[in-house]
Amino acid sequence: MNRAFFILKFKTMKQHYEQYTEEDFLVWNTLFNRQVENLQEKSCNEYLYCLSQLKEVMNADSIPDFNLLNAQLKLATGWTIEVVPGLIPVDEFFALLEKKKFSASTWLRNMEQLDYLEEPDMFHDIFGHIPLFMDQSYANFAQKMGALGVKHASNEEVLLQLQRIYWFTIEFGLIEQNGIKLYGAGILSSFGESNGIYTNKPQIIPFDLLAIIATDFCNSEIQTKYFSIPSFEVLYRSIEQYAKQIAVKA
Ligand SMILES: [Fe+2]
Repeated sequence: MNRAFFILKFKTMKQHYEQYTEEDFLVWNTLFNRQVENLQEKSCNEYLYCLSQLKEVMNADSIPDFNLLNAQLKLATGWTIEVVPGLIPVDEFFALLEKKKFSASTWLRNMEQLDYLEEPDMFHDIFGHIPLFMDQSYANFAQKMGALGVKHASNEEVLLQLQRIYWFTIEFGLIEQNGIKLYGAGILSSFGESNGIYTNKPQIIPFDLLAIIATDFCNSEIQTKYFSIPSFEVLYRSIEQYAKQIAVKA
């Protein structure tokens, strides 16, 4: 498909709420209830707090309506959801982050695939990612990543480093809060991985941005290595520091 057409097409996409089926509602309800219960002692405080802030518009009773979610998000931190067909080109992804837009799909896995996903669905994108965009430090960090991605769009090395940072923080990050807690959306939205962190004894490394940018990742297998941050403030300061370092090199 012509790439320009592809981008044009997803920019006009929206959630068609009336098209969700009974099974979709059942899938959302099942996943939401199971994971909220599972995360009570595992997720970071900020995630649970943000989720509770969103309880009128994100709960087990119905699939979230993006218009209602956007109104709440916008009020809190200025972020909104951008509907996309699935995985999108990295330059477009960073451009959206810079504009305080998080890209999300609208489709849901089916009841036979509760724990299996080839591509992220809206349970991952919305339940896993969206609540923490209510947290200012986390939201600032994500926006800064987007801004750096746009600024250095022609620098392959920086783009690779940013993808590694994104992977080991927003997607699979851990945080120290009276023990190891979860904040990465890939873990928060996965029943198996959110339990595996505590039972599979993966390698958990204290947060180190220089180590992250030198660490390759594999997106087709369960993670064996995670990085644990002390706080979202430290996370944000680290990306500011990184921005200064690459500005000197550029
Ligand atoms: Fe994700």
